[in-house]
Amino acid sequence: MKLLPNPFRALIIGSSGTIGSAFIDLLQKTVSCSDVVGVHRHSEYPLDYQDPPSIERCAASLMNEGPFQLIINTIGMLHSSDWMPEKKLEDLNAEQLMELFKVNTIGPGLTIRHFAKLLDPKHSLMVTLSAKVGSIEDNRLGGWYSYRASKAALNMLIKTASIEWTRTKSNTALIAMHPGTVNSRLSKPFRGEQIGRPAIEAATDMFRVIENLEKEDSGMFVTYSGEKLPW
Ligand SMILES: NC(=O)c1ccc[n+]([C@@H]2O[C@H](COP(=O)([O-])OP(=O)(O)OC[C@H]3O[C@@H](n4cnc5c(N)ncnc54)[C@H](OP(=O)(O)O)[C@@H]3O)[C@@H](O)[C@H]2O)c1
Repeated sequence: MKLLPNPFRALIIGSSGTIGSAFIDLLQKTVSCSDVVGVHRHSEYPLDYQDPPSIERCAASLMNEGPFQLIINTIGMLHSSDWMPEKKLEDLNAEQLMELFKVNTIGPGLTIRHFAKLLDPKHSLMVTLSAKVGSIEDNRLGGWYSYRASKAALNMLIKTASIEWTRTKSNTALIAMHPGTVNSRLSKPFRGEQIGRPAIEAATDMFRVIENLEKEDSGMFVTYSGEKLPW
């Protein structure tokens, strides 16, 4: 049985981002979505993954707005003004590794922990955007050490929490999702404009998959087209 009820209320984490804002636009037009709330670094209740206590504060501030039947976390980072993804082992450095783990692993992990309280215990879904390049088995090209490692570690947190939730939150599915290549700020330096599709298309594809998820799907690493990815 599909988990997402009709109507449902949604929360988009990272709603200032390209894919996050596309989810807001899409859900505002989706008839079955009665309300969609967005949070980001500069929203009324801000959360910044450089400041982990802000995650718990943001979740606590939203308590009166819950419960939500759908939470999608779209926060993520690939490059900064100071560095680009590593091409070779020689490029590996502690600063970049620590920053990407903060934003792509620790932040999303603590978000699952603190925002779990906002999920509807009767039927709900929490989807975190990961990336196919975080798949260890699928790694054929190498490179992008810290991004790959931070997403692989994120995947492990999601899988582990999903196992705990089969006991403690049996009507909630926890999913890692790959959005495909999307034209966004994140992909721009890597020919994102040429090879990525518009964010609204990606959000529409992902929502189609989300709508059909069942509680047995919890703990899955899945693409925008519903294809199951190897960890
Ligand atoms: N685009 C792709 O081709 C692609 C492919 C695979 C996976 N993904 C994943 O999809 C997700 C969304 O990516 P996107 O393409 O939409 O990228 P984007 O446009 O760069 O958006 C990134 C989002 O993350 C937020 N963010 C970055 N650092 C943060 C921090 N320290 N604290 C809180 N928020 C922070 C940004 O907030 P600000 O607006 O405040 O900067 C923004 O909301 C990411 O997890 C990414 O890894 C994307």
